Amino acid sequence: MKNEMDDVLKILVSEKELDEITTRIASEIDRDYGESPHRVVLVAILKGSVVFMGDLMRKIKTPIEIDFMKVASYGGNTASTGNINIHLDLQRADIANCEIILVEDIVDSGRTLAHLVEYLKLKGAKSVRTATLLDKPSRRVVDFEADYVGRKVPDEFVIGYGLDFDEKYRALPFVGVLKPEAYEK
Ligand code: PRP
Repeated sequence: MKNEMDDVLKILVSEKELDEITTRIASEIDRDYGESPHRVVLVAILKGSVVFMGDLMRKIKTPIEIDFMKVASYGGNTASTGNINIHLDLQRADIANCEIILVEDIVDSGRTLAHLVEYLKLKGAKSVRTATLLDKPSRRVVDFEADYVGRKVPDEFVIGYGLDFDEKYRALPFVGVLKPEAYEK
């Protein structure tokens, strides 16, 4: 049987650390939204955030709703926040009454979340904040910082816990670094 573990160079964020991260961010969200009179909506950006979302939402005590968006970036490597296509948008009539928390697996250039925060504010959301499991500040091309950050990571090829290479490795229960042979072959 094929084993995706064979392609893992090292574990970067262990299952134990992931559990600690989701517990901490859930309590930060409870601290900030526990008294909100509005709808608190966690919006997972597909697909990479689904595992983080699933663990995080089960630890938040504040009543929340969930929703999903899917985007794709296009164009070159310019410092722009405009090169984002929305493939699946929120279908909500009540956005003016929503406090939105965008949930991501990783912030890299920063384009995706910078664009989506602006987009949802323009659509009239009551508030928009962002939560990311991983942050790669060395790759940033736009000025963006997430409100809730699991952990900063170096510029390595990370996979697992939702993150993929060529759609593989998403189901690994930890965040690992991929062996170069696995993406060079
Ligand atoms: C990844 C990640 C973020 C985005 C971050 O998604 O999940 O959405 O890239 O990059 P940025 O900060 O440079 O915008 P990807 O396009 O790989 O799709 P996936 O989540 O479906 O794997």
